[in-house]
Amino acid sequence: MSKTKFFFFFYFFSVYVTGAVFGFSPVNSSLLQCLRLHFSNPKTEHLLESSSLKFIEIMPTGTSMPLKVQLEHGTFAIFKPLSSSFDSRHEVAAYRVDRLLELGLVPATVMKEFQGVKGSLQFFIEGTRDPYTAGATISQNMKFLDLLIANTDRSAENFLVLKDGRQLAIDHDLAFRTLDGTPGEWIISKSIPDLKVFKRLKEVPDALWHLELDPLLGPTKVTKFLQRRDYLIRRMETLLTEK
Ligand SMILES: Nc1ncnc2c1ncn2[C@@H]1O[C@H](COP(=O)(O)OP(=O)(O)O)[C@@H](O)[C@H]1O
Ligand SMILES: [Mg+2]
Repeated sequence: MSKTKFFFFFYFFSVYVTGAVFGFSPVNSSLLQCLRLHFSNPKTEHLLESSSLKFIEIMPTGTSMPLKVQLEHGTFAIFKPLSSSFDSRHEVAAYRVDRLLELGLVPATVMKEFQGVKGSLQFFIEGTRDPYTAGATISQNMKFLDLLIANTDRSAENFLVLKDGRQLAIDHDLAFRTLDGTPGEWIISKSIPDLKVFKRLKEVPDALWHLELDPLLGPTKVTKFLQRRDYLIRRMETLLTEK
């Protein structure tokens, strides 16, 4: 083997070996592009779970002062500590609901420890605009998500729009409320999701919801969630057959 060949062989070998040992891999722009396009999938979850984190800043917007952190591949994430006033486990639960129903609205979110504190870690999506600047109105799928997870905090700050028009739902620590009362006919009629999503809602078994949500919400909130699901299915089915 020539000296040059040996040098390149040694260089790439050491980059990949250190990657395997320390969990780092060389920055790969197609990987970054892929993560930005498919922000909610098991690979992105794995990246969040396995990456070490570097503090960047306290977000200047928002009320809970979330932290922006950098992941190993050069992408970013939002870390929200778990506290008595902000239950960041709800962030992860909202993402799991989104993932199970294949809504594609909530960026991948996992539980993670950062500097000794437990919290939620959500993949940060760059290049978003607020709905006013983007001239977007909230989609029926997002309204549906809010009804299903009993989220009362969908302000314009918690609804972001990508260049291609896709909508993102963030900030769900105030979801999974256990308030009494049910949504009215009018709001339900304006929140019917795509039929594909509605079909998934009817298909996902209770056992899977419990498996995914119980560790984050506890059985009482999950039971309430399933009651809301049943109520929405009943009311939406009636509205769909009347159409
Ligand atoms: N996943 C994300 N991708 C891009 N921007 C985000 C993301 N999460 C939060 N942000 C930005 O950070 C701000 C504060 O985050 P948010 O979750 O709304 O926290 P708070 O609970 O303090 O309102 C948001 O208004 C948004 O501008
Ligand atoms: Mg917010």
